[in-house]
Amino acid sequence: MKVMNRIWPRLGLVLLLGLLPCSPGVIARGPIEWVWSGAVTESSAVVKAKVGDSGEPRLLVGEAEIPPSEISASGIATFHLEGLSPGTAYDYRVAVGDGAVLGGRFRTFVQGPSSFRFVFGSCARTGSNHRIFETMESLQPLFTLHMGDFHYENIAENDPAKFRRAFDKVLASERQSSLYRSAPIAYIWDDHDYGPNDADGTHPGKPAAVAAYGEYVPHYPLERDEGQSGGLRQAFTVGRIRFLLTDVRSNRVPDDAPDGPEKTMLGVAQRSGFSARSRPPAVATLSSYGSIPSPGSRSQGAATDGDATTGSAATSPIGSSRRGWPGVCSC
Ligand SMILES: [Fe+2]
Repeated sequence: MKVMNRIWPRLGLVLLLGLLPCSPGVIARGPIEWVWSGAVTESSAVVKAKVGDSGEPRLLVGEAEIPPSEISASGIATFHLEGLSPGTAYDYRVAVGDGAVLGGRFRTFVQGPSSFRFVFGSCARTGSNHRIFETMESLQPLFTLHMGDFHYENIAENDPAKFRRAFDKVLASERQSSLYRSAPIAYIWDDHDYGPNDADGTHPGKPAAVAAYGEYVPHYPLERDEGQSGGLRQAFTVGRIRFLLTDVRSNRVPDDAPDGPEKTMLGVAQRSGFSARSRPPAVATLSSYGSIPSPGSRSQGAATDGDATTGSAATSPIGSSRRGWPGVCSC
């Protein structure tokens, strides 16, 4: 969204307690440019690091030494951790060669009901090193939820290298990268980090954007339906809260298309996917678009998810179900 190029990312806090210790301080970067974690559950996590080509990287967690499950051609190493203990803080270090090491920390989620704290935001200028990121880190969140516009490179071409460079610019920010080492990330894109302003499913750079996201971002399993291309829909659960990360860009019908049942921000498959879910006690739907507009609403002149003119029930899988859930956070 063009209005979002602001200095201050939106920042919010939800719930209580569940605090982490101080952020990790293991840094001897050498050839390791950055490291971050994500896809954390009660028993697993993913760590990614940019290690270049300076030797076989390994992930050190306690006494364990874990090899990468994959190293991309551009030097992004992916590590999968399984069999972790719930509600436990883990310090990790990525090491390469003879001493370069870069560390981070995450805490696995607690089983069952618990209180916790997370921070969320969106719309930071590319590579922003604003002090807000220090503030976010100081709050010791269980995780950081990034709701899109991770950068404002507005890449219109189908060029993976451009998307990779954009990620590298952001992760070179001292304060942002420190935040992302201190706690895991859960990140869904918006228009400026997916493509140009107001980008939709027709964006020619969609394959490159999807590829770079998969290579760089530690993410939860992508819930793609048969025949769907590109979608980053993903979800995770913390205690009694189900977090739905909605991709409102890569299968979006252009805003100037006529209203009707097939006009969708989510894509038909993603939209129907929500309706098939079992109901947890509470749900948070998250995207930088202010969540999914309610039936009949029109957000910033763009498409709602369905027939904006009549407010028909195209969003009913979410909209009507909301009323049946004890708590919904739309961010
Ligand atoms: Fe934005």
